[in-house]
Amino acid sequence: MVAATAAEAHAAIDAMLVEHRMGDAGARVVIEEFLAGEEASFIVIADGRNVLPFATSQDHKRLRDGDQGPNTGGMGAYSPAPVITPALHARVVREIILPTVRGMAADGIAYCGFLYAGLMIDAAGNPKVLEFNCRLGDPEAQPILLRLRSDLLGLIEGALDGRLDRMEAEWDRRAALGVVLAAANYPEAPRKGDPISGLAAPAEDVRVFHAGTALADGRVVTAGGRVLCVTALGGSIRIARTRAYQVVDAIRFDGMQYRNDIGHRALAPRPRGAGGRGAREGR
Ligand code: GLY
Repeated sequence: MVAATAAEAHAAIDAMLVEHRMGDAGARVVIEEFLAGEEASFIVIADGRNVLPFATSQDHKRLRDGDQGPNTGGMGAYSPAPVITPALHARVVREIILPTVRGMAADGIAYCGFLYAGLMIDAAGNPKVLEFNCRLGDPEAQPILLRLRSDLLGLIEGALDGRLDRMEAEWDRRAALGVVLAAANYPEAPRKGDPISGLAAPAEDVRVFHAGTALADGRVVTAGGRVLCVTALGGSIRIARTRAYQVVDAIRFDGMQYRNDIGHRALAPRPRGAGGRGAREGR
């Protein structure tokens, strides 16, 4: 429950602790600071002690344009996230990532794998942690991996062998942007079995990642909520976005849902030194 006012917070607590609307799941509550600002995904690979940051990214969790509609697993993402400036990047590693990995090691939990910090960057440019996940994000992974020039398996083996302090990851300097194509009725009750057309070989520097598809009688059909993620590289986020949507425009299935404004925060004018929300911008 994200409460915008004290009254909303009180109502939520009454619903859980007094009216028991969530049963046992609502018998204990944790109250945290309300965080406003711009979200970014900061993903690293860790070997138990050392970390290698992956390219930064940002996803779009709401179903509809302008960050409206229900929350989803993510309707699109782009990399890099301009809100993470080089100075902020260094600060996140120093103040959040390394203390976390080293704190876990000190507690006897040598964490080896992907560590994903979901960050909120406030208006003054300060990073706060919203959550940690132990995986690459989806759909962040798609634009991030399209930009990765190093061998992913080599990095994973480096993490397993505890030698990330001697490794570097090489990144394509171009931006990447991915648009998720979701099934009819996603996220409530995604419909399966709709035939997908327009999946012919995409343009250079574009990948169509399959997530919720299946083969039925030789045809590719929908088989999950988030069906495809069309991801493109470009000299800027704007160019990557244009390329991705050109491929999206050729793909069809009944009930297909996608957002038209992936990347809007990166493309909106930014006040100097601020991490405020960008204006909605069409394609
Ligand atoms: N895109 C958000 C996540 O993977 O958790």
